[in-house]
Amino acid sequence: MRRPLIAGNWKMHKTVAQARALAADVVVAVAGLKGVEVLLAPAATALAAVAVIARPQGLSVAAQTMHWADQGAYTGEVSPLMVAELADYVILGHSERRSLFGETDEALGRKVHAAFAHGLRPILCVGERLDEREAGQADAVVLGQLAALDGIAAQEAAGLVLAYEPVWAIGSGRACDAAEAARVMGVLRTALGARFGAEAAASARLLYGGSVNPENIAAYLAAADIDGALVGGASLEAEPFAALVRAAADQGAPAHEAFS
Ligand code: 13P
Repeated sequence: MRRPLIAGNWKMHKTVAQARALAADVVVAVAGLKGVEVLLAPAATALAAVAVIARPQGLSVAAQTMHWADQGAYTGEVSPLMVAELADYVILGHSERRSLFGETDEALGRKVHAAFAHGLRPILCVGERLDEREAGQADAVVLGQLAALDGIAAQEAAGLVLAYEPVWAIGSGRACDAAEAARVMGVLRTALGARFGAEAAASARLLYGGSVNPENIAAYLAAADIDGALVGGASLEAEPFAALVRAAADQGAPAHEAFS
């Protein structure tokens, strides 16, 4: 049974003071909700401040990227050792990292390995651009991006989070139709099964990302292969983010829990 995960990717928003306030508001807004994992991914500067607020309350924390080396002459980067002190997860391969900062599947492969080596769970993002979708290449593109998982063990794959974020749906208000997202994510889970075995594929969690909001979240969560959401814009305020968490909590809680 996969636990739903609602992850807020704050991108390059929030000063430390603002991040502290938002984390505290989210903690209050989601208190008592069961059957759902809540994750906050602040900017690197706010990671420590958010971790101190969120983790003792059972929320998880993620970095938005990292280098693969433990240390070295990589000005501006943060290392897996540094991230592992503060976070549980690391988002890797977000389309903004790929398109704006030149991240390749090869570099992402190194980062995925480094994450597992340091006890961090990668949230690997995949997704096609609009021109790729229009050319009928969506499935091929996302399957190709699984190259970043080359060489990982089945046991590691079981702990993986894979986020399907069609590039054209990110920040556009044009969310991917839930049935189509579920189809692509079924293709991804099948591919995980072929590479890492049925058990790992059944344990790995798949998130949808791209213009998720409180109105459309239920449609995604209703799909068998969609285990939660990676949320940008709607995670920048406690509400509507908490509304997304409530939707997943209702979904994930067994009946007896829902009435207790
Ligand atoms: P939006 O929810 O703003 O579309 O962003 C999605 C995203 O990129 C999350 O990583």
